[in-house]
Amino acid sequence: MKIEDIKTVGVVGAGSMGSGIIQVVAQAGIQVKVVDVGEASWEKARKTIVTSLDRFVKKETITEQQKNEVLGRISFSTDIKTLAGAPFIFEAVFENIDVKKELFGKLAPICGADVIIASNTSSISITEMASLVKYPGKFVGMHFFNPVPMMRLVEVIPALQTEPATTELALELARKIGKTPITCKDTPGFVVNRLLMPYFNDAIRLLEEGVASAEDIDTAMKLGAGMPMGPLELQDFAGADIGYYVGEIFFNYTKDARFAPPNLLRQMIKAGYTGRKAGKGFYDYSEKK
Ligand SMILES: NC(=O)c1ccc[n+]([C@@H]2O[C@H](COP(=O)([O-])OP(=O)(O)OC[C@H]3O[C@@H](n4cnc5c(N)ncnc54)[C@H](O)[C@@H]3O)[C@@H](O)[C@H]2O)c1
Repeated sequence: MKIEDIKTVGVVGAGSMGSGIIQVVAQAGIQVKVVDVGEASWEKARKTIVTSLDRFVKKETITEQQKNEVLGRISFSTDIKTLAGAPFIFEAVFENIDVKKELFGKLAPICGADVIIASNTSSISITEMASLVKYPGKFVGMHFFNPVPMMRLVEVIPALQTEPATTELALELARKIGKTPITCKDTPGFVVNRLLMPYFNDAIRLLEEGVASAEDIDTAMKLGAGMPMGPLELQDFAGADIGYYVGEIFFNYTKDARFAPPNLLRQMIKAGYTGRKAGKGFYDYSEKK
């Protein structure tokens, strides 16, 4: 299969990441067939996509007509069979191996030997998932970043079983949809999260030890290291619970203490202080308001 043959792409899971993937693929002129378990998910995804495209219209990056063309390329269904015929399928369902396994079982009868399945997982082994699909050579990891329309990186992760041609096509598709891909081995955290997790944990440990206040740690990294956001405000923004769960998974897998969630983070999660979405994390957002 060549990149020109990819005229339709399937996306399973229209949540935070799926909606972004749907948008960038449709913006690249490719038809997108979306499957999610509920109509409500699609309504939410559609609103997110429209809001994001409206921003591009406002900035005059695209016209109102182009926005409508993008939306016109997207179709939604709750029936997995609608993906039959799509040569490339993105998987962005819940981060749960059992959910993913069940999905691969449903995809097996409708995906021929040519169809590539790309997973957006952050923490599950690509090689383990490849062993669950019918054609492991056609399975690859494509790890996008949130918010997908704004973040330019895609980590492309071949499993042990992935054929080189599959990786090559994943790289080409990433470029076609306006992203800059890198390739990395199937290892916990890939590149970005492997570096970020210990950094986030160290920032929490500094706070725990009373070395500096949350504000001063964030200010230090913004003004002294050129980071656009400090490590603590960034964790509040993304959801401190995500870092916690991912850290636990990586620690259990590697036994590398750098990934182990610090005690303060553990307590915050138990208290429900998961960041902006909860109104409280490393900062108090009700006060800030
Ligand atoms: N959120 C992030 O910042 C982020 C970043 C990179 C990668 N990821 C990965 O992307 C994937 C999705 O994460 P998310 O944050 O978008 O999750 P989410 O919970 O926002 O969305 C998941 C969607 O999948 C749907 N879904 C669940 N089971 C399904 C099934 N069997 N068939 C069809 N649809 C199904 C749900 O209804 C939901 O709309 C995960 O593997 C996650 O690790 C997330």
